[in-house]
Amino acid sequence: MTEKTQSIHGQWSSRFAFILAATGSAVGLGNIWKFPYITGENGGGAFVMVYLLCIAVLGIPIMIAEITLGRRGRQSPINTMQTLSEESGVDPRWQYVGWAGMIAGFLILAYYSVIAGWSMAYIVKAFFGNFINSDAEEIQRLFENLMANPVQQIFWHTAFMMATMYFVMQGVQGGLEKAVRFLMPALFVILILLVGYAMSTGAYEQGMNFLFNPDFSKIDADAVLTAMGHAFFTLSLGMGAIMAYGSYLPNHVSIAKTTFFIAGADTVVALLAGIAIFPLVFANNLEASAGPGLIFQTLPLAFGHMSGGWLFGLLFFILLFFAALSSSISLIEPAVAWLVENKNIERHQACVWSGAACWALGVGVVFSFNIWADLKLFDKNLFELLDYLTANLMLPLGGMAIAVFAGWMMKTQHAEQELELPAEGFQAWRFLIKYVSPAAVFLVFLHVLGVL
Ligand code: PHE
Repeated sequence: MTEKTQSIHGQWSSRFAFILAATGSAVGLGNIWKFPYITGENGGGAFVMVYLLCIAVLGIPIMIAEITLGRRGRQSPINTMQTLSEESGVDPRWQYVGWAGMIAGFLILAYYSVIAGWSMAYIVKAFFGNFINSDAEEIQRLFENLMANPVQQIFWHTAFMMATMYFVMQGVQGGLEKAVRFLMPALFVILILLVGYAMSTGAYEQGMNFLFNPDFSKIDADAVLTAMGHAFFTLSLGMGAIMAYGSYLPNHVSIAKTTFFIAGADTVVALLAGIAIFPLVFANNLEASAGPGLIFQTLPLAFGHMSGGWLFGLLFFILLFFAALSSSISLIEPAVAWLVENKNIERHQACVWSGAACWALGVGVVFSFNIWADLKLFDKNLFELLDYLTANLMLPLGGMAIAVFAGWMMKTQHAEQELELPAEGFQAWRFLIKYVSPAAVFLVFLHVLGVL
């Protein structure tokens, strides 16, 4: 492509900067907090296999599609979808994909911030040595006390939301681009250390067996849906985050290569987290299906007993906080970019408004862990409802729509121009995005609805 396009919000300083930001978006609570606990709830190996398969056949092609659309549209996802549908001569209502994504990001951030707040609370606990020599029961009590305390959770949720807004205000080349450069590798090193500790627990093999030995009788249609939804969640797909980031990507950066790196790094981090956690679960006779508290009830045990555990525990929760932060800013970026483009307001104002609304919903999520725990709709409290609605429904549907748009609506030659792939590579992507990805999502939904 010859003409140079650029977003009004700025541009990443380099390909590396984009890789950092997009990896920062992908690697977050999804990998370290969510992947282990949903794997535990869904019986292990078979669930992990389905998840990995979804990363390969849905995650990678759809991430390529999202970055491609973003870079070609060069605007917030809503306006990108509108511009590209005009350019392709198709129904302008495709912009609703952008709308749905913006809403999904908003709903996710409301609970994401609460969980990130827990990791902030744990920074303080680590600092005061609360894990040292504690047994499983004491560690569990620590977590239960936090759950029972809405004031404390709201405090940390507020702090996290403010940190997110602060970084979103800085725009794309702000401090985070620099911070992620050191934090990601550091997180990786700590996870390796934790895996080392897990090997010494005596239940390492049992943990590995649980994670990688598939027993397909343990999963049902809903587990398959959860695994698929998580593939979207963990790669930040289906809601426009990666599309928004792609819109700041310089021309002529290889989208496919970049995608492989991001998806690879994301998957490795999730698997390392799983490998570090499950041996601890079995060595201490804990429940694999403990739910959202799983990492908070297991990893402190490792920190409490390993040498250097005080320091590593402190570092781990600090890094988890930053990993969450680099994801949360991408959850709200589509909304902020859209407000700036369409409502003619300043970036910082857009941040304040969207952040405040998200915060309010998050307070409801805090209550769903204590005073509103029994307030249920479809047998789910507010946290579970938001999680199911976004990760299991909105993201896969959004991803499917993006696949259909990139595969069927966008002109082949436009996609070719953006991707600049060798012919076979392009054909392979095209086949996946046109047929395999949309069909896979569709079939999983039919299965869940009991039609299949
Ligand atoms: N991918 C992030 C994580 O794994 C969460 C996220 C989802 C971020 C969707 C942006 C968009 O924690």
